[in-house]
This record gives sequence, C-alpha cells and structure tokens, in this order.
Amino acid sequence: MISHKITGQVTVVLGLQRGDEGKGRVVDELAETHDIVARFNGGPNAGHTVVLPDNTELDLHLVPSGIAHPGTMNVIGNGCFLDPVKLLAEFDHVAEKGVTVSPAMLKISDSVHLILPQHIQEDTDREAGTGAQGSTKSGIAQVARDKYYRTGLTLGDVVQDKQRLSALPDSYQTAIQQLSAYLDDTTLYLNQALRSGKKILAEGAQGFLLDIDHGMYPYVTSSSTSTGGVVTGLGIPPQAIGEVFGVVKATQSHVGDGVFVTEITDKNLLNQLRGKQGDVDAEFGTTTGRARRMGHLDLPQLRRAIDICGVTQLVITKVDCIPRYGNKITICESYTSGLVASASAASLEKEQPVYIELPSWTDDISTTRDYTNLPTNAQNYLTYLETQLDTPITRIGVGPNREQVIKR
Ligand code: GDP
Ligand code: IMO
Ligand code: MG
Repeated sequence: MISHKITGQVTVVLGLQRGDEGKGRVVDELAETHDIVARFNGGPNAGHTVVLPDNTELDLHLVPSGIAHPGTMNVIGNGCFLDPVKLLAEFDHVAEKGVTVSPAMLKISDSVHLILPQHIQEDTDREAGTGAQGSTKSGIAQVARDKYYRTGLTLGDVVQDKQRLSALPDSYQTAIQQLSAYLDDTTLYLNQALRSGKKILAEGAQGFLLDIDHGMYPYVTSSSTSTGGVVTGLGIPPQAIGEVFGVVKATQSHVGDGVFVTEITDKNLLNQLRGKQGDVDAEFGTTTGRARRMGHLDLPQLRRAIDICGVTQLVITKVDCIPRYGNKITICESYTSGLVASASAASLEKEQPVYIELPSWTDDISTTRDYTNLPTNAQNYLTYLETQLDTPITRIGVGPNREQVIKR
C-alpha cells in the first residue's frame, strides 16, 4: 500500500499572549473540519471555555476542546501533564453538561507524566512563601522538574507495573485504573492517522509569554506553548504542520505574577473591562477564579510571538468588548527601546510602551457576522492590526458562543 505523503495536515491553535485568549472556542469551531483534536502541552493549569449552540458552557482543563463534536477523536498527547483524579472529576463535570467522555472519543498517551499529591503540595507551599510566582497550584513546575530530572512517573509506567501503582494513594489507584481504558501509543496513532490523510487540530494551552523557553522566564509555565511544542508534545514530524492560528485577545489579560508592560491600573476601568463575575466571558480565571490583570494590546510582544511560532493567520477575540475601554483604543505600537520585545522578565521590565490611539465605536457587534457590516472604526482597527502585524486576520470573535465569529 502506498501511504499518503505527510504535508500540512496539522493545524495549530496557539495563544499569542498570556493565556486565556479564547483558544478553546476557536478549537471548538475548527474541530468541525478536522478528524482529531490533540492537546500537546499543559495540564490542569489550563482552563478553556467552550459555549455550545444550546448555550451549554463547558469549562475544560485537560479534556481537548473538540470533545463536543460527535465523530471527532480527541487526544491527550505525551507533552501534557496529567492529574488522574482531576481528569476523572473533569469527565464527571463534562457528563453533567451532557457530554459523556468514552474511549471511543478520547485517547491518552501512555507517556504523559503524572501529577501526584506531593507535586501539588510543593507547589502550594512555594506559593505560600517568598518564592511565589502566582502559579495555579496544580503541581506543574514540580511534575516537570521530575520529568526532566528523569525520576518522573508516566501513566504507562503505573498501568503496566502493579507494584508502582500500589504505592500511590487509593484515589489515584482508582482513577488510574479507570483511565487505563483510554491509554494508547498516541504518537503511533497520530502518525498512522497522518499517513492515511487525516487532519489533526493541535490545541495549545497557555500562551506565548508563558513558554518555558520563549516566555518571560521565570514567570512562565513549565511546558512549550509555541509551535515547537507541537512536534515534541505529539511526536509528529515538522512538515505535518500547515496553518498556525495565533489567537489574540483584544482585551489583553494576565493571571499570576510577571511583567505586564501595558498593564492598566485604573480600578474603574479594570472593573469595566473585566465584566460581571459569573458571566461566561468575565475576566476571572477559569481554573482558579482569580481576577485577571488587564491591559492594552502589546504589538512588539505579538510580533515576536508571530515570528517564533510561524503564525499564518490571526484570530482576534473579544472585539465586541473593545467599547469597554471608552471612546479611544490605546495600543502599544512599539517600545521606547525600539526592540521587538524580549524573552526574560528582567529585560521586559526595562521596556516602556509607546502608545497610539485609534477611535473606538459604541455599536453592539455581537450579532454581526459579515465583516462589511462592522462599524468603520472597527474595520479600521482590524486593518491597522493586520498591517502592523503583517499577518491576515481571518476570524473575529464578537461573543463567546460558537457562532459568534466573523470569518474572512
Ligand atoms: P483559553 O484558555 O484561551 O481557551 O480562554 P479562556 O476560555 O480561559 O478565556 C477566554 C474567555 O473569553 C472565555 O470566557 C470565553 O468565553 C471568552 N471569549 C472568547 N472569545 C470571545 C469573544 O469573541 N467575545 C467575548 N465576549 N468573549 C469571548
Ligand atoms: P490557558 O490554557 C492563563 C499561568 C499562571 C502563572 C504561570 C505558572 O487557560 O490559557 P503554572 O500553574 O502553570 O505553574 O503557573 O502560568 N498560567 C496560565 N495563565 N491561562 C492559562 O492556561 C495558564 N496556565 C498557567 O497563572 O502565572
Ligand atoms: Mg484559559
């Protein structure tokens, strides 16, 4: 049999900022045209919101955002970190919303590293002390440390070795036994799928500035959030990657510590920008419930993210929320240093923003589906971004629901 030549069948969705850009809703929409949705990085620290056509709201953490599409296979790849107890609880939570997870729709890599109680304890202890970084206290840094120290435990290890399994707390043993039905060599599965011509959607967690290599170290997460992470986190060849969607939230936010060059500190404006806690799109962490820090768009940072990730298309989300900033849209066009952003928190700390202002609009655009029906100032804003970022904007989010998107 002559197998299919692998080229460009993997579409990547990444957050280009600091997480929570709206990746989940973009993946949910794109899942329709892909056979498989695969998570390649992150773990229970992620929180992806999907709003189904019947208004059911799914807040997903490790379960891929393609889960609501019947007929789509979902994969938790080897690059992820898995907390067995939390994942089973997530299955239950999703089932309550009417989506029952089964091995027919989800495969879990036998190579994922397990987050154990001691990792969470250490993370919680660190956050309580002087070394706090504003983590989600999910044990991410600690499981990653053990992985790279080569003392970690994978799901495959404990499923195969009863002795290692029996050393874990009861709740973990029970959860792992249930998850064993989902276990697979997902790298082999994905490569066979590519050979047979299938299309894969790689769902990123976190955002560019949280990347362990390219983010604002040390205020980062412990996995690769960029395109490079797709290759290692799923075990697929680089030429399999085609389109790379970079998701940018117009109302830029951040949770946790770290430098935020364009941060807004005005309390009234912050309240206005965050929206009402409890609303599906309010700016409070999906995983921790923390109020998100908010700011203006930072173009130097986005230019760097687009270059390093090889972004081919931009999705701008929460464009409907821009009027919350008032009658002007403030954008950081450059830094006074003239640099195209930088990697570490220490160097980013020295940067000063150079702002420009564009006129805003007051119209409610949440029901607009046609680009030409957007207010002129909204069109001008998007054209400005496209020119500045030298990348086409092919999707514009005008609300959190699946259909609230303008496609170009
Ligand atoms: P993710 O982690 O990148 O998947 O993003 P989150 O789900 O954590 O956060 C994004 C938030 O913005 C969620 O509350 C979404 O429902 C909401 N959201 C996404 N796109 C849009 C949009 O275009 N308009 C509005 N109003 N909300 C959006
Ligand atoms: P999604 O996928 C926003 C942040 C934490 C903290 C830092 C390190 O929903 O975009 P960690 O627990 O990973 O050790 O925390 O990273 N962080 C996120 N911020 N969205 C996320 O995921 C995040 N995952 C981690 O707030 O600053
Ligand atoms: Mg999120």
